[in-house]
Amino acid sequence: MKIDFGKALIYGFGALLLAPVLYSVVMAFVPENDKSGVTVASSVSDLSGAQLYSKCAPCHGDNGDGTEAYPPLNTLTKEKLLELIVGYQAGSFGGGNNKKIMQVQVEGLSHEDAAKLAEYVTKLKPRQKSEKELQDMKKIKKEQQIDITGISS
Ligand code: HEC
Repeated sequence: MKIDFGKALIYGFGALLLAPVLYSVVMAFVPENDKSGVTVASSVSDLSGAQLYSKCAPCHGDNGDGTEAYPPLNTLTKEKLLELIVGYQAGSFGGGNNKKIMQVQVEGLSHEDAAKLAEYVTKLKPRQKSEKELQDMKKIKKEQQIDITGISS
């Protein structure tokens, strides 16, 4: 049998390139629990949705309206909320460094508790913004965009 060195080289490089990808995929499924000191209670708690939400309110607001820095939650459907929470837990959802903030929040939350939370949040009604407020928000967004282009040119 003849060994095709060209092919062997290509496969070798392929394996080298794939190794870090495989590593990160595997690591995404390894629980972070033992690394952090946080105790993880993956069993269902007897807390209500409202009690569970008290942990989220400091950032996302009592009514889930969010603030400048934190996204609103009360505009999302139950299914979407659950999907996002699970996404943070799996490390597959979220943006940049901010996602770490959220991962810590939902770390150890059981699926049942996450569902209770999602259910509770969808009962929070978004605060009605006045037409003027909505207009102002649009204006601010536009101004920010103009600012950014002004700086970069
Ligand atoms: C310390 C502040 C903080 C607390 C407390 C917090 N969050 Fe968040 N949350 C954030 C930040 C910051 C983001 C945006 C993260 C990103 O960019 O991925 C976020 C994003 C989210 C999102 C995604 C929203 C979207 O539309 O993208 C959900 C869902 C969410 N949080 C749910 C919760 C729940 C449920 C709790 C309570 C268990 C909670 N958060 C507690 C800061 C917080």
